[in-house]
Amino acid sequence: MPSFSAGASTQKQQNYQRWRQQIREQRKSLPIASVEKRLVDEVRKNDTLIIVGETGSGKTTQLPQFLYDGGFCQDGKVIGITQPRRVAAVTVAKRVAEECNDQLGKKVGYSIRFDDSTSNATRIKYMTDGLLLREALLDPLLSKYSVIVVDEAHERTVHTDVLLGLLKKVQHSRANASENGKTLPNAGHSQNLTQKACQGTRCAPLKLIIMSASLDAKCFSDYFGGAKAVHIQGRQYPVDILYTYQPESDYLDATLVTIFQIHLEEGPGDILAFLTGQEEIESLERLINERARLLPPESSKIWTTPIYSSLPSEQQMNAFKSASAGTRKVVLATNIAETSVTIPGIKYVIDPGMVKARAYNPVTGMESLIIIPVSKAQALQRSGRAGREGPGKCFRLFQESEFDKLVDSTVPEIKRCNLSNVVLQLKALGIDDIIGFDFMEKPSRTAILKSLEQLILLGALTDDYKLSDPVGHQMARLPLDPMYSKALIVSSEFKCLEEMLIVVSMLSVESIFFFPREKLEEARAARKGFESSDGDHITLVNVYRAAAECLEKSKNANAKERTMDKALIRWCRENFINHRSLKHARDVHSQIQGHVQQMGLNLSSCGEDMALFRRCLTAAFFLNAAMRQPDGSYRALATSQSVQIHPSSGLFRTKPDCVIFNELVRTTQNYVKNLTRIDPLWLAELAPQYYATED
Ligand code: CDP
Ligand code: MG
Repeated sequence: MPSFSAGASTQKQQNYQRWRQQIREQRKSLPIASVEKRLVDEVRKNDTLIIVGETGSGKTTQLPQFLYDGGFCQDGKVIGITQPRRVAAVTVAKRVAEECNDQLGKKVGYSIRFDDSTSNATRIKYMTDGLLLREALLDPLLSKYSVIVVDEAHERTVHTDVLLGLLKKVQHSRANASENGKTLPNAGHSQNLTQKACQGTRCAPLKLIIMSASLDAKCFSDYFGGAKAVHIQGRQYPVDILYTYQPESDYLDATLVTIFQIHLEEGPGDILAFLTGQEEIESLERLINERARLLPPESSKIWTTPIYSSLPSEQQMNAFKSASAGTRKVVLATNIAETSVTIPGIKYVIDPGMVKARAYNPVTGMESLIIIPVSKAQALQRSGRAGREGPGKCFRLFQESEFDKLVDSTVPEIKRCNLSNVVLQLKALGIDDIIGFDFMEKPSRTAILKSLEQLILLGALTDDYKLSDPVGHQMARLPLDPMYSKALIVSSEFKCLEEMLIVVSMLSVESIFFFPREKLEEARAARKGFESSDGDHITLVNVYRAAAECLEKSKNANAKERTMDKALIRWCRENFINHRSLKHARDVHSQIQGHVQQMGLNLSSCGEDMALFRRCLTAAFFLNAAMRQPDGSYRALATSQSVQIHPSSGLFRTKPDCVIFNELVRTTQNYVKNLTRIDPLWLAELAPQYYATED
C-alpha cells in the first residue's frame, strides 16, 4: 500500500485548525467558563460588581469576551479593562485577539502610555489604569464605555485608588444624566464638560466591575456601598514550600545557586524567579548564561527570558513561549508575574522575598525607591504560581521564622508616594477639594498639603490652589511626572527643548549604561567617551545623539529598517549601552515630542551653549538641589537631608559644590542619581519663588 502525505498547504491548514481547537479547549477548561451565564446576569443586575478569583482562573481574558457576547457593546460602546501594568495590558490584549481569531487593534486592542493599538473598531480595550485617568480629562463621563473593569484592584496602585474614586463619581453622574436626559445639571465634576459629553446621546449607566485575586473583597464592597461580590472557584495544585536554614546575605547569588540546583537535581518544569527590577534581572541573566556554558554537554540546556514593565512588548512576549524540547525555561520577572500575567509551564518558583517599592516622606516631600521585604500576601501569590498546571515547589530564600515577621498585606501605594501627579490630575478633572475627595484610603493630610505646595512652586497651581493657565493645564496634559512636564515647558523658554526632551526620555527608562562584571574596565572606558564634566544629564544627551547619528548613517546608506536595527544593536554592544532601554527611550521621545508639538512649544536647541542648558536644568529641578558639606557629603536644600552622590554618577569623583539631581535611592544611605553641577547663585536667580531671601 502506498502511503500519502498531506501537501504543504494542507498541512499548514491542519496545524492551524488544530491550534484553534486547542485554544477553544483551553478556554472551555478555565474555571470561569462554567459560570459565564451567571456572571453576565450578575453584571446586568448590578451596576457595581466585585469578582474575586485565583490567578489563572480566566478573569482578565474571558470576562470581557463574555460581556461582549452578552450584548454589552451595542451602539458601538466599548468595554474597558484597566491593568496596573503595561505588560499585562499588552500581553492579555494579544492573547484575547488571538482567542477571538482577529487581528490585534480591531475588535480587541490595548492602549498604554506611549503605545496605542486601538482603532474605531475596538470594542474590548485593555489599558493601564493611568491611561484611563488621562482619558477622563478629555471625556469626563467616559461616555464611550458601557463597562469598565478595574482589574488587579488588590494591587492598590496609586492610579487604581484614584480611578476607583473617580469612577464612583462618573457612575453617579451618568446615572443622573440618564435619568434626567441630556440637560441635567450634574452632580459630578466639570459640569460644563459633562454636559458637552452627554450632548446628543443619553448616557447609559456605567457598569463597574472590580476584579481582584486576593480574598479581601470586603474593603471594595464597603467602598461601593455594599456592592455584591462573586467568588470564582480557582484550581490550584499543592505547592511544597521550602525555606533556607540560614539567612542569605546576597539574594541574587542565592537565586543563581538555586536555579542551577533545581536545573541539575529536579525533574522537568520551568522556573520562575522573582527579582526587584531590570538591573537585577539583566545582571542575573548574564550570570546564568555564563555559568550555563560550563554545564556538562549531556545536561539539558537553560533558556532565560526576562519580563518586567519597561521591556519592549515584543520581548515580553518571549516569556510566554515554551522552550524547545530538552531545554528548561527560566523566567526572570519582577512582581509583575505575581498576579498580572500567567506564564505557562512554571513548576518551580524562587522567591527571594524582596520587592522594589516607592516610599515617601511627607514631611520632606521626597519620594524614593527602596527594596523592601514582600508582604505575606505577596509571598503566597508568588508560591501559588508554581501550582498552576500541576504540583510544584517554591524555594523561599529566607528562613521560615522570617515569613512570620512579614506584614500581612502591602500598604496601598497612595499612602507612600508623592501625590503631586494625583493632585494635578484631579485638579485638571475639575475636582478642587482634594482633601475632601472620596479616596478609598485617604492619604495623609500632610502629604496632600506638601504636594499642593510643590505644585504651587512649580507654577502649576495659583496661590489659591487653582490650575494655572496655561502652565498648569499644559502640565496636566503631559503624561509625565509634574517636575518633568515643567522641565519641558521651562526649556522651551530657555530655547533648549530639544535637549530637555532627550533628558526626560532617557530619565523615563531604567539604566542606559551597562557594566558587565567581566568587562568592567572596557565598559567604563566606553562611558568616558560620552561623559560630560558638567554631569549626567549632558552625558545622556551625548549618548542619545550618538545613537541617533549611528541610525542616521545607516539610513543614508539606504539600509532597510531591519538592518538599521541591527546596526544600532551592534553600536549599543560596542558602547556598552543597554539596547532595550535606549529603544524604549527613543519611543518615549517620539511620543512626548508629539505632545509638546501639539501644545505649540518651540522645538529649539541650545547648540553648544551647555551653560544655558545647565541653567535651564536648574530652573526646572530647583526643588532637587544639593550643596556639598565640609565632610564631602551633600545636603539636599529643600529637605535638609544628608545625601551622597551615587557611584554611578559621572560627578562621583569630582564632587562639585552644588548640584541638581533627579532621583533619590535609599539603600544603606541616601544616594542621589542623575546629577548636573550648577552655580549655587543660579538658584536664587532662577527660582526666586523658593530661594530668594529678603534683604
Ligand atoms: O485573570 P486571571 O488571572 O484570572 O486569568 P487570565 O489572565 O484570564 O488567564 C487565563 C488563562 O489564559 C491562563 O491560565 C493562561 O493559560 C491563558 N493565557 C495565555 O495563554 N496567554 C496569555 N497572554 C494570557 C493568558
Ligand atoms: Mg488577571
